[in-house]
Amino acid sequence: MAGGTRLASILLLSVFLFVRAQDDIREPPKILEPASAKELFYDGGVDVTLQCRASGQPTPLYEWYWNGAPIEPTNQAITYDPSTGLLTIQGLTTREEGFYNCRARNTFPNGLSAVAISHKIEVRRARIKPWTKDQDRTKTATEGNYVFITCGDTLPKYYGPTTFKWYTVEGEDDLLEVEEDKRVFIDNKGTLHFTYVLGTDEQSNRYYSCAMSNVVEGKLTLGGRTRLVVTKTASMSEVKPALQFSTKLAGDGALTFKRNTEGHLECFFSGYVNDPGNEVPTIKWLDNAGNTIVSGTDRYTIKGNGRVLTIASLVEADEKPFTCIANNAIGTAEGRMTLNVTSSPIWVKALQSITVPQGKDAVFHCEARSAASEVPPDPPRWFKNGYRLDMSYDPNKFEFANENRELRVKSAQKNTDIACFQCFVGNSVGEEFSDGCLNVILPIEVVAKPLPEQTIERGDIVNLTVVATSDKLYPVAYKWHFNNRTYEGVSAPPHVIYDVSTNLAYINTSDLTDEQMRDIRGVYRRQVYHEFESVFVDVDVDVDVILKVQEEPPLPVENAGPDVVVIAVLGAVGGILILVMLLVVLYKMKGIVH
Ligand SMILES: *[C@@H]1O[C@H](CO)[C@@H](O)[C@H](O)[C@H]1NC(C)=O
Ligand SMILES: *[C@@H]1O[C@H](CO)[C@@H](O)[C@H](O)[C@H]1NC(C)=O
Ligand SMILES: *[C@@H]1O[C@H](CO)[C@@H](O)[C@H](O)[C@H]1NC(C)=O
Ligand SMILES: *[C@@H]1O[C@H](CO)[C@@H](O)[C@H](O)[C@H]1NC(C)=O
Repeated sequence: MAGGTRLASILLLSVFLFVRAQDDIREPPKILEPASAKELFYDGGVDVTLQCRASGQPTPLYEWYWNGAPIEPTNQAITYDPSTGLLTIQGLTTREEGFYNCRARNTFPNGLSAVAISHKIEVRRARIKPWTKDQDRTKTATEGNYVFITCGDTLPKYYGPTTFKWYTVEGEDDLLEVEEDKRVFIDNKGTLHFTYVLGTDEQSNRYYSCAMSNVVEGKLTLGGRTRLVVTKTASMSEVKPALQFSTKLAGDGALTFKRNTEGHLECFFSGYVNDPGNEVPTIKWLDNAGNTIVSGTDRYTIKGNGRVLTIASLVEADEKPFTCIANNAIGTAEGRMTLNVTSSPIWVKALQSITVPQGKDAVFHCEARSAASEVPPDPPRWFKNGYRLDMSYDPNKFEFANENRELRVKSAQKNTDIACFQCFVGNSVGEEFSDGCLNVILPIEVVAKPLPEQTIERGDIVNLTVVATSDKLYPVAYKWHFNNRTYEGVSAPPHVIYDVSTNLAYINTSDLTDEQMRDIRGVYRRQVYHEFESVFVDVDVDVDVILKVQEEPPLPVENAGPDVVVIAVLGAVGGILILVMLLVVLYKMKGIVH
């Protein structure tokens, strides 16, 4: 009795465990938001919220990091909810600035967990740092000549989109904006250029002052002041164009742009001719093939009265020379510059999440390159669930190859190996990061299948039922392959009676004709599959030999004469006679025995 109970409970338990293994759905976290690295600028004092969102089973919990360290619950200014992933900065000040990233962690029934890490979000209070103003300066020029006024020796550091403007000022609040036009230009370093200066530019008792304007903050910050003194002349002499400023002349770094950003090239020419409406030289841009660049086509835009060429979303192939050419009635001049398109490592293969059936190896790739003709990136650095995967890893489980660009997780196990991996690759320009998780699922298991070879005769039932189980996360689908055809969904090979809901499949041969019996011969290949695995079960069905002989084409009968028929009939009669005689003999023997 006790033994019976124990047996029953063992049976129950094993059924229970079996069900549990199938039902234990595990899926490592996948961060959906933030989906990429970003830079955010806010006005001071505003409340900032950052959202972290991930999928995964069990539902992940969130942890936020700030400048590489976990945000403590004691932090009053920055708080977050571990279950919703929502982080709040109340009243942003410069103190809360920095890099934020989140981790999504899910913990499995055995206590192990998988931790995915998000890209970084840089949070800044949009502002222009205080301007260390130089002394008031004086700039002298002669009417008709080129003159420029710089913003100052050092520009203040600024955060967020910022533009330069120029004003003439008197006292504290009397500001008049200096508008750009064909003659007047503000370059992207903030310098104010006059193609040719006029007496009226002097503005007697006013100063010229550069200002930086922060788009987010909406505040103007005025720089140092310059008095412009213009020596007047009776008549301005004509001047040939001359290159006074270009992105190239602005310094080595000025021509270097990151891939996928906007390229920005500038040329400024002096020059004057006494021809109303055409005083200022006209500018055109040529590409490396010598073709004139037309604004508004092929990613190019020309603005600022021809002085600015922008190229949308730079690619490496944009690393080529551009030429600006200025013309007026008495001459021409040109500027040449070669764009440098650079980049932090560019992914060849970023880490990607992988799902494998238990027992298989999983291979992760972390491969990046530098921009064309630049120094290649350093070998990647790997992390598992946020911890460095260096010398301390288990060589029976992990194996690096291809100069650390490949990580192999050997014979992945559902119970121990579900985890997320991170890799970092850096070059002289910057660092890139990617995250990918390993999910391990129970393999497809065939729990019922027919005999692999079946020889049948008419009247037999050919059972073709195949039933399989799999990890609950990825239910299996089934299809048939028979005689070079594939049957999906509810369809099945000829004469197969198939119930999709129970997977029961059989052929009832009772009512089949000879020809139909011939048709059902062959290999029935059942494919049980999902996204990550396929299992095949083959059943070779043959029809009994006797049937085949009967079905042999009646070759002899074809050219059979009456003789043959007679012989056949005689043979049959003879056979019957022999049978009767045998029966008689048997009957007699039986009688003797009794
Ligand atoms: C372009 O800029 C990058 C990064 O500053 C530098 O490494 C590279 O040498 C530059 N290329 C050229 C052709 O100047
Ligand atoms: C065919 O085999 C399956 C699984 O082994 C079984 O459940 C089913 O009853 C069988 N069907 C027939 C018609 O024999
Ligand atoms: C199946 O197709 C292949 C190639 O298309 C062919 O060589 C083969 O004879 C076909 N088999 C049958 C049973 O039709
Ligand atoms: C097979 O077909 C015969 C004739 O139609 C029928 O009597 C029999 O019940 C069928 N067998 C099965 C298992 O369906």
